[in-house]
Amino acid sequence: MVTMMVSPGMILCASLVIQFMVLGVVAEGEWAVNYISKSVCALKGSEVTMSCTYTYPSDHSVQKAFWMNKLVTGGEGPNLSNDPEYRGRVQYLGDKQHNCTVLLRNLTEKDQSKYYFRFITDQPGGSWQGTGGVDLSVTDLQVEVPERVMEGDKVTLTCKTTCSLTVTPTFTWYRNEHPLSSSTDQLHLQPVSREDAGRYHCAVLGQDLRSPEVTLNVRFSPKSISVSIHPSGEIVEGGSVTLTCSSDANPPVEYHWFKGTSLAAKRETYTMKKISSVDSGEYKCRSSNEHGYKYSEALNLNVLYPPKNTLVSISPSGKIVEGSSVTLTCSSDANPPVESYMWFKDAGASTIGSGYSYSFTFDSKSSGLYYCLAQSKHGSQKSAGIPVNVKGDYIMILYVAFGLSLCAVAALLVIVCLMSRKKRKTRKADKHDYQNFDPNAKDDTYTALDRMSRSPDYDTLATVRNQK
Ligand SMILES: *[C@@H]1O[C@H](CO)[C@@H](O)[C@H](O)[C@H]1NC(C)=O
Ligand SMILES: *[C@@H]1O[C@H](CO)[C@@H](O)[C@H](O)[C@H]1NC(C)=O
Ligand SMILES: *[C@@H]1O[C@H](CO)[C@@H](O)[C@H](O)[C@H]1NC(C)=O
Repeated sequence: MVTMMVSPGMILCASLVIQFMVLGVVAEGEWAVNYISKSVCALKGSEVTMSCTYTYPSDHSVQKAFWMNKLVTGGEGPNLSNDPEYRGRVQYLGDKQHNCTVLLRNLTEKDQSKYYFRFITDQPGGSWQGTGGVDLSVTDLQVEVPERVMEGDKVTLTCKTTCSLTVTPTFTWYRNEHPLSSSTDQLHLQPVSREDAGRYHCAVLGQDLRSPEVTLNVRFSPKSISVSIHPSGEIVEGGSVTLTCSSDANPPVEYHWFKGTSLAAKRETYTMKKISSVDSGEYKCRSSNEHGYKYSEALNLNVLYPPKNTLVSISPSGKIVEGSSVTLTCSSDANPPVESYMWFKDAGASTIGSGYSYSFTFDSKSSGLYYCLAQSKHGSQKSAGIPVNVKGDYIMILYVAFGLSLCAVAALLVIVCLMSRKKRKTRKADKHDYQNFDPNAKDDTYTALDRMSRSPDYDTLATVRNQK
C-alpha cells in the first residue's frame, strides 16, 4: 500500500481529514464532496437515501447540482435524472448550498453501481465531482435451508442477502404462506419436527419483496403404521382378501408383508384371491426406509369354510349281530365348527336322526347305507355312505361261496382245456406238430375267463365285496 511509504506528517494530515469526514464537517472554503456512507446495501424494490454534503469556496454560487453513475473527465457529465433507466426514480433531496442527499426508488439489480455527486458554480472552472462515490449494492432475499434434515436436528433457516443491509430491517417468515413468529433474519427450528416440513419464504416488513419459496424436507423413519383388511368382517374360503399397510415416513417407505415369519409380499397391499383355510394365520406388515423400520401389529386372518372331510365311523367295528347296539359317529372339519348333523339312510330323503352320533339297535331292517350331513353357517357336506350289515357270519359265507365257485370254475376250465388239447392233438398229429402251440388255444381260455368275469353272478359277488 502507498500509505506505507508516506511520512508521519502526511499520516497526521490524513487522520485529520478522516476525522473531519466522519464528523461530516469539511473545512469551509475547500472543494469537497462528503458521502456519509461509502457503501450502501439495499433491497431490490426498496428505496435508498444516499446522504451527502459538499463545500466550495465561499465566493462561489452553485448553479447546477446533480448525480451521475460515472466519473467524467471533461464537460458537464450525465444528469442521472435524465437517464431513461432511472427516469422517475431519482429524487434530489439536497439543495444548492451544502446538502447533496439523493433518493433512489424502486431499486433493481441493474442499479448496483457507483454513484457520484457533481456540482457546477457560477465562476470559471467552478466545477467539482466527488470521486469517492457511493457504492450501491442491491440484494434480494434467499432462504437458506440445510441440505439434509432429520427429525430432531437443530435447524436454522436464514434469510440471506448478498450484502449486509445498511438498515437492519424487520424480517417476516412464512411457512406455507402462514406467518411465523421470528422477526430476525434467522428462524430456529430446534428441534425440528416433521410438522415443520413445508415451503418457506422470508420477507421484510413494510416492503414488497419476498424471497422465493424453499422447501424444507424433514426426514424421519416410519412412525405410525396401520394395517387394514378388505373386505372387513367374515372371510369365507374362496373369497378375495386384500391387506393394506400404511405408514408415514420420509423418504417414502417400502412395505413387506409377512405371514408368521415368512415373507408374503413386497407391496403396500397384499391381495389373496380365492383364499383358503391354509391362508389363515397371523399377518404383519413392515414399513421401512433408509432411516429405520417398524412392524405393524399382527392381523389375525381367520378363514371360514364350510364342512369338509365329512366321515362316518361305526362302532363296534367288528361283528354286528341282531339286537346289538350300533353307534355311528360323524366327523367333519369346518370353521366355525359344524352346527348340526343330520342322519340319512339309503335313498331316504327324511332325516332319521340328528347330533354328531347316531345310535340304534340293529335288527333285520337296519341293514343299509348310512349318511351324515354336516351343516354350518357356510354350507353343508354329506358324507359317503357307510354300509351297516350283519358282519362276520354273513360275509364269511359269501366269501366261502365265492371261493368255492372260483375253484369249481377253475377245475372245469382245466378239464375243458385238456380235453380240447387232446382232441386237436389226435386230429392234427399227422399234420404239423408245431400247430400244437397255436395261440388260439390260449385265447379260448381267456375268452372263457372273460365271459366268466362278466357273468351277473360274479358282479353280484364283487359288489358285495366292494361294499364291505
Ligand atoms: C437533471 O434532470 C432532472 C430531470 O430532468 C431535472 O429536473 C434537473 O433540473 C436536472 N439537473 C441538472 C443539474 O441539470
Ligand atoms: C439534507 O436534506 C435532507 C432532506 O431534506 C435531510 O433529511 C438531511 O438531514 C439533510 N442533510 C444535512 C446534512 O443537512
Ligand atoms: C415504484 O414502485 C411502486 C410500487 O412499489 C410503483 O407504484 C411505482 O409506479 C414504481 N415507480 C417506478 C418509477 O417504477
